[in-house]
Amino acid sequence: MPKGEGESVADRLSAVPLFASLSPRDLRTVASTGSVRSFAAGDTIVGKGDKGLGFYLILDGKVEVRAEGKTLATLGPNSFFGEMALFEEQPRTADVVATAPSRCLVLSRWEFWSELAHDPEVLRTLMAAVVGRLRATSKALSE
Ligand code: CMP
Repeated sequence: MPKGEGESVADRLSAVPLFASLSPRDLRTVASTGSVRSFAAGDTIVGKGDKGLGFYLILDGKVEVRAEGKTLATLGPNSFFGEMALFEEQPRTADVVATAPSRCLVLSRWEFWSELAHDPEVLRTLMAAVVGRLRATSKALSE
C-alpha cells in the first residue's frame, strides 16, 4: 500500500472501537499490513459455508449479515465481520453482502494474529462480539 494511503487509513482506525487500546504506532502497522478492498452494492463479500480466511473492518458503506433467508444484522463504518474465522478453520457462518458501495480493510488470519494478538483488549472485544453474535444468530434462526 502506498505510504500516504496507509497513513490515512491509520487515521481512520483511531475511531474504531475495536482498536481503541492500540497505540498510533500499532494503528499504522495494522493499516499498512491490511489491504483495502472495495465492493459494489449487491456484492457478496463472504459466503456462508466458504472457507474463511480473512477479517474485515468496514471503512465506508453498509453490509448485511444474512443466513437462512434472514437478515441477522446491518453493519456500517467501524464495525467488523469475519472474526469467527479467526478463531477456527471452519466455514463462514453467514453471508455478508454489501448493500451500498463499501470499502473494507482486510487482514488475513495470519496478519491479524501476528499484529493484534498481543493486545488483551482487542481479544476481549472480539470474544464479546463472537458470543453476542452467536447468541443473536441462534435466537433469530429459532424464531
Ligand atoms: P464468519 O463466520 O467468519 O463469517 C460470517 C460473519 O458474519 C461472521 O464471521 C460474523 O462476523 C458475522 N456474523 C454472524 N452472525 C452475526 C450476527 N448475528 N450479527 C452480526 N454479525 C454476524
